Amino acid sequence: MKVEQLFTGCLAEMAYYIESNGEVAIVDPLRETEPYLRMAEADGAKIKYIFLTHFHADFVSGQYDLAQKTGAKIVFGPGATAEYDIYNGADGEDFPLGDGKLTLIHTPGHTMESSSYLITDENGNTPYVLTGDALFIGDVGRPDLAVKQGTLTEKDLAGFLFDSLRNKIMKLPDDIIVYPNHGAGSACGKNMSSETFDTLGNQKKTNYALRADMTKEEFIAEVTAGLKPPPQYFPNNVRMNKSINVSIDTVLHKGTTPLDAATFKEMSEQKDVLVVDTRTKDSFTNDGTVPGAWYIGIDDSFAPWVGALIADINQKIIFIAEDEVRVNEIVTRFSRVGYDNTMGYLAGGIKDWIANRFPIDKIGSVSASKFVDLLNEGKIEKPMDVRRASEYDSEHVVGVENFPLDFINSNFAEIDTSKEYFLHCASGFRSLIAASIFMANGVEKVTDVRGGFNDIKETKAKLTEFVCPTTLL
Ligand SMILES: [Fe+2]
Repeated sequence: MKVEQLFTGCLAEMAYYIESNGEVAIVDPLRETEPYLRMAEADGAKIKYIFLTHFHADFVSGQYDLAQKTGAKIVFGPGATAEYDIYNGADGEDFPLGDGKLTLIHTPGHTMESSSYLITDENGNTPYVLTGDALFIGDVGRPDLAVKQGTLTEKDLAGFLFDSLRNKIMKLPDDIIVYPNHGAGSACGKNMSSETFDTLGNQKKTNYALRADMTKEEFIAEVTAGLKPPPQYFPNNVRMNKSINVSIDTVLHKGTTPLDAATFKEMSEQKDVLVVDTRTKDSFTNDGTVPGAWYIGIDDSFAPWVGALIADINQKIIFIAEDEVRVNEIVTRFSRVGYDNTMGYLAGGIKDWIANRFPIDKIGSVSASKFVDLLNEGKIEKPMDVRRASEYDSEHVVGVENFPLDFINSNFAEIDTSKEYFLHCASGFRSLIAASIFMANGVEKVTDVRGGFNDIKETKAKLTEFVCPTTLL
């Protein structure tokens, strides 16, 4: 039996490919179907099942498209309902796969339909359990995402999760490998490790939520403490995961339309069209960009920032790519979080735009040391740190205000467009996004601090005392 973990960094997501004797199961597939089809083809195998550990909130999963293309059965846990045909597995139900099987273990808590899958190989051994968002490495899934008014509270769900972990998962052998659905960087938990798997025995020793002497009350208090509001796109992705969506092939066909510079300009000037510049930080800073464009670089946490910042999931989007070879990938990455209304890209890139002598918007850029000099000389009107409040609270430059990128849209009314802003984050990615949104919203003078707080710390900047964040209970 072959069991492969398929890690996607941008979403910190792990899908799984399991093959035995010509039969394949895919667990928690991403929106695109091609990689799974190719893997099965290479093994000369047929995709028999698509298992979902739960309705995901942080990405749009591809079960419907994949089932259409393969005839595979879509399996969810008990109680799940969707607009398309699914099979509700029962707790303890076996699903034969080649010479082995998968067994559904109902593990409600993160969501009520949440299920884990125990893998049994051809020798009758159980080397792996796929725990979805019930158990992560170092953490457990947050229980607040499936709260619906008038029904269960996040504390009720945390209580279910406690029972699922204690009565089902923790009873498995200590040497079983835990294969979760997410790793560090995902907003589905709050304290995940950067490891993507571990033995259950080691998790029992190191994961705060699996402490042997923990009471249910302590568990509920700890997993619900300090939860931040989820990103705004999460409810949309849950809704899409229960619905029949536009096929990824249709999305790709429309989104990869080449638009010549004149057409791109015309479209960029329409009020209901958003331009997203996906190039590298250096290209964006050095060349400038199309007026009104938002910067969200493809080589960083692209999809989560698209989801967090673009309020309308049906937003019409045209984009600028560094390299036309990656156009397909960029459209795919928009659609992984449900942004299916991409309408094309700037053919010939920014060079063609410049060659046409079309207008360019450019943000200022300074080094960390120059920023600190100007700050100390009192020459900066509005210095701002766009990191999260928790990062700012732990340490920041004295005299610099916090304006987190996560809430830029809801807080933008506080910005005085006639003032000159200097923005920094930790490394220079989020500040560039923020700077582009400032500029798109009418701030004429905005400067990005290259290298962010990491570089600032190497200078003689005055920093607040480092205060160790209070540990949870
Ligand atoms: Fe989740």
